Amino acid sequence: MSKKYTIVTYGCQMNEHDSEKISWILENMGYIWTDSKEDSDFIIYNTCLVRENAELKVYGQLGALKELKRKKPDLILAVCGCMMQREPIRNVILEKYKHVDIIFGTGNIHKLPQLISRHYQTNETVVDIVEDTREIIENIEANRKYTFKAYVNIMYGCNNFCTYCIVPYTRGRERSREPENILEEIKNLAENGCKEITLLGQNVNSYGKTLSYDYNFANLLKDINKIDGIERIRFMTSHPKDLSNELIEAMAELEKVCEHLHLPVQSGSSKILKAMNRKYTKEDYLNLVEKIKTRIPDISLSTDIIVGFPGETEEDFNETLDLVKKVEYDSAFTFLYSIREGTIAAKMENQIPDKIKHKRFQQLIDTLYPIFYQKNLKYENEIVEVLVEEVSKNNEKILSGRTRHGRLVHFGGDRSLIGQLVNVKIDNAKTFTLEGHII
Ligand code: 5AD
Ligand code: SF4
Repeated sequence: MSKKYTIVTYGCQMNEHDSEKISWILENMGYIWTDSKEDSDFIIYNTCLVRENAELKVYGQLGALKELKRKKPDLILAVCGCMMQREPIRNVILEKYKHVDIIFGTGNIHKLPQLISRHYQTNETVVDIVEDTREIIENIEANRKYTFKAYVNIMYGCNNFCTYCIVPYTRGRERSREPENILEEIKNLAENGCKEITLLGQNVNSYGKTLSYDYNFANLLKDINKIDGIERIRFMTSHPKDLSNELIEAMAELEKVCEHLHLPVQSGSSKILKAMNRKYTKEDYLNLVEKIKTRIPDISLSTDIIVGFPGETEEDFNETLDLVKKVEYDSAFTFLYSIREGTIAAKMENQIPDKIKHKRFQQLIDTLYPIFYQKNLKYENEIVEVLVEEVSKNNEKILSGRTRHGRLVHFGGDRSLIGQLVNVKIDNAKTFTLEGHII
C-alpha cells in the first residue's frame, strides 16, 4: 500500500510554492497526499520566521505530535523552511523535539529523497542545511495546486535588510534566475493550460541585477507578455525604492499585466521609515503613488503595514493613518511589529508595549476597512472578468474567482467553469468581496 504524506505550510507564497515542489518530489517517490495527520506516514512542516506567532505555532504543533509519533513509530516527521535556516532554532528542535527525524532548509529541497534514505539507513535525526544560499537549483518540478494559475520564482533572497525583517538572514542574498529558464517554465505551463502566472521574488523590481548582462524586470514582463496562452501576469513583491518609470510604462502598456500592484509601505512616518531602513520617505511614496495613478488610472493598490515599530509615537502612527487615507488602498495586510532575534530592530530601545500596538492596530483597520468598502462599491453594476478558481465549501453552486484587479468575487455557476475566464456583473459589494452573476 502507498505511504501517505501531508505538508503543513506557514508563511508567504514563496513557502507555498516550495511546498508544491516538496509535494512533487514525494509523489514521485510514491507517496500519496492525505489531509489527515493521523493517517500520514510522513508529515512535513514548512516553516516561517517573519513573525513570532508563526514560529510559536510550529513549536505547538511539534509538541502535539509527540503522542502520535509514540503510537506510530514509523511515522517520519520533517521540518524545513525559514526557521530551519537559523542555527539557534535548529538547536531548540534538536534538544526539545527529539522526535523530529529530518531537518532541512530553503536551499536543499531537491535533496529530500537522499535525506529520507539517510534517515532510514541511520535511524538518526538527519540535519542538512545550505548556509551559503547563493546557488540557484533549476529544474525542480512542482505539484501545483491549480493547472490554470501558477507561481513562478524569478529570484530568491533579499539584499535590503529592512531592520525589522529576518528574511535576508534566512533566504540569503538576492539572486535572479536566468530569463531563459523562467520563460521556458512559463511556456511549459501555458502549453499545459495555465492562464495566469504570479511571478515571485522578495523584491521583483530589482530583478536582473545579478545577471551578467543588461536585462531587467520590465524586459522580463515584455517577454512573458508574448507567450501564447498566458492571459494574466501578476507579480509580488515590489519595493517602492526600486519601482522605475520603465516598469510603470511596461505595466501600462502590456495588456496581460494585471492592474494590481502590491506596494508595501510599512509606515507613513518618514522618521520610522528611516529607522526601518526602507530608503524612501512618506513624500517619496506618495509621489510614486501619484505617478502610478496618473499613468494607470484604474490601478488597484495593496500594501503591507507594520504597527508599533520601536520608537513609533502617536504622531508617527497618525502619519500612517494620514497616508492610507491619501493612497486609498484597495486592500492591505496589517501586522503588529514582532521582535525577530538577529535583526537590528530587535536591539532598538523604545519597544512599544503590546497594549498600544493593539490599540493602534484596531485604529488602523477601522480606517482601512471603510476605504476598502468604498473602493468595492464602485464595482456595483459593473461587469468584471473573473478567472474561476473554486467551488464554495458551503455551497456546491457558488463559485469564486479573482478579477484582474485581484478582487475576490462570488457568483452562481457550475464547477465545470473552474479554470475559465468568465464575465460577471456585480450586484453587491462587501468590504473584502464582491457578489454577482455570470452574464
Ligand atoms: N514584524 C511584523 N511584520 C513584519 N513583516 C516583516 N517582518 C516583520 C516583523 N518583524 C511584514 C512586512 C512585510 C511582510 C511580508 O511581513 O510588512 O512586508
Ligand atoms: Fe524583508 Fe525588506 Fe527584504 Fe521585504 S525587502 S524581504 S521586508 S528585508
